[in-house]
Amino acid sequence: MEAMYTLGLNIHIVGVLILLGVVMFNGATLAFSKDIRVYARRMRIVMPISSSLLFLLFFTGAIMMAAKHLVFSSTNTAMIVGIIVIIFLEIKRYRVLRYQTDILNENALAEYKAKGFRYLGIEMAILLSLSAWMMV
Ligand code: HEM
Repeated sequence: MEAMYTLGLNIHIVGVLILLGVVMFNGATLAFSKDIRVYARRMRIVMPISSSLLFLLFFTGAIMMAAKHLVFSSTNTAMIVGIIVIIFLEIKRYRVLRYQTDILNENALAEYKAKGFRYLGIEMAILLSLSAWMMV
């Protein structure tokens, strides 16, 4: 049981680190993008990766919570709220790109960049502050 818990915790922490890397990669890709169509195509590959990581975090977190008899401590509640906000922001970011951005418009990339950076920035802030809080 102890070994299972440690394995779950290690997978959880590695998941957080990879997700941080993916969010940074998304920000860098957006910053260096010159063509919204190329960016949208690349996002179609990256989105399933970030969704899987979010699922992995939820799954391993839920298992650890169950092992601890579902204690809703302040840190656990903060992680659950944080991940729900990140999932909501990722859906919003996808919907803005898919449905609210006219890729034929010349300014589409510039307009999307402003919104995309805001969503990614909030996601990054949540991930970093939660990780810092969990580590103290
Ligand atoms: C934004 C997403 C999340 C981040 C950044 C995050 C971060 C972390 C970190 C860094 C640890 C290790 C703490 C240590 O070494 O003691 C941890 C542990 C843990 N996480 Fe998460 N987590 C997230 C989401 C979740 C979710 C969604 C759940 C529950 C469904 C969860 C439940 C837990 C539990 C139970 C632990 C074990 C330590 C404890 O009891 O506090 N986490 N998390």
